[in-house]
Amino acid sequence: MGKPPLHPMNTTDALHDGEQSLRIPSLPAAVVKLNELVRDPNVGVMEIGEALGEDPELSMRVLRIANSTMFGLPTTVLDPCHAASILGINRLRSIVIQAGTIGVYGTKSLRKDMEMSTHWRHSILTAHICRTIAGKSPRTDLMDPAELHTAGLLHDMGRAILLDNVREKYLEVSAAAKRDGVPLTEAEREAFGVNHAQIGAKVVLAWDLPRNLAQAIAFHHEPWRVAKALPSAIVIAVADRLAHAVATNDLARMPQVAERRDLRFLGLGMGHLLTVATNAILAWKAIEL
Ligand SMILES: [Fe+2]
Ligand SMILES: [Fe+2]
Repeated sequence: MGKPPLHPMNTTDALHDGEQSLRIPSLPAAVVKLNELVRDPNVGVMEIGEALGEDPELSMRVLRIANSTMFGLPTTVLDPCHAASILGINRLRSIVIQAGTIGVYGTKSLRKDMEMSTHWRHSILTAHICRTIAGKSPRTDLMDPAELHTAGLLHDMGRAILLDNVREKYLEVSAAAKRDGVPLTEAEREAFGVNHAQIGAKVVLAWDLPRNLAQAIAFHHEPWRVAKALPSAIVIAVADRLAHAVATNDLARMPQVAERRDLRFLGLGMGHLLTVATNAILAWKAIEL
């Protein structure tokens, strides 16, 4: 693993997992601070907006995301405090995390890196779909839609970490898995001793994000193992599959995107899923990195 990372990010401590020692990016200081403020019940929305305003670059990215058609806000948000008051704490936090995590890869170099930009486009779309499904499902025991947005955004973070650390080998392993019809998580375990879902969960914990987020990410390829205790895992798995179907323009796969038991579990019908899919097609076109 001698090669330097492709992306000019700051790295925090490495993840030691099996035979792997993987560098993980550190979240920008402003995101860490905002995360702490959000957890403090004595801190209000305005204070959070003001804290965000202290980092002009992050604020700009947050405003761009908040004003994108994907969020469909009724009004244009003009500055961090305005964003905080319109979005509320949870939604603002999910956008700050999106701006912060993508930002660590440096948007300029990200656009030139096809695999990494494909990864983030898929992640942003999955986040969007998670949020939409959460809004439609009558279940009351799902995570908050904003938290589900973050789970969707970070569900494949382990892939970004592998791409960044062991790029050539990872591309080889993923291509071979696809060619041979082997599940990617199995191929990853075989090659690296750990799969991207497990790495993603560890990154989320290293970033001090909620435990249930890490757990849902750890099981996003086998959600039924945890569905009873963590129903949001089913949302992430369905959103992940739908995001792939939208990106490859393969909506004929809809019955595989959500099996009957997934829909029943979420209290949704095929009609709901088609509405979510139509919305996702529009969102896919609107994604900008
Ligand atoms: Fe995945
Ligand atoms: Fe995915």
